[in-house]
Amino acid sequence: MIAVYPGSFDPITYGHIDIIERSSKKFEKIIVSVLKNPAKNPMFSVNERVKFIEEATKHLDNVIVDSFSGLLIDYVKQNNISIIVKGLRSTTDFEYELQMALTNKCLDQNIETVFLMTSSNYIYLSSSLVKDVVKFNGDVSKFVPPVVREAVIRKIKGV
Ligand code: PNS
Repeated sequence: MIAVYPGSFDPITYGHIDIIERSSKKFEKIIVSVLKNPAKNPMFSVNERVKFIEEATKHLDNVIVDSFSGLLIDYVKQNNISIIVKGLRSTTDFEYELQMALTNKCLDQNIETVFLMTSSNYIYLSSSLVKDVVKFNGDVSKFVPPVVREAVIRKIKGV
């Protein structure tokens, strides 16, 4: 069964990597797909985000990295995907994720969204928090892989 793990991944964190590693053990193939959405004003280009994810998942044989635009459900149908995987951190995530899962279900009855609870050590972690911590000179080495940490510092501090 092929699953997609969609997201902005701006940038990928250890929280995302945890979800990818765990779901790669449960599904035949996982496609991690980056949403091309310039309206969100991302810090990193789609290419940069894809490269970070490829680097972070190179130890996982059944994970491939891609990008998509438009409706997730159209991308899912075009790529023979039957499951959408999402990570859930909190009740705030739940409200938003429920809305998306039900919308996607309404658009295509055959596609299920499956939620993995975030591991407790990453419950507080988010991509925007990483950017904030770097902005104020904090250490993000526990939150993101070294290559991502260096790239965020370069973007924010210009060094
Ligand atoms: O990491 P994010 O920003 O929470 O990911 C959100 C994402 C990419 C999964 C969501 O915005 C999405 O699926 N966008 C594609 C557009 C779409 O299909 N919208 C309607 C279904 S809710």
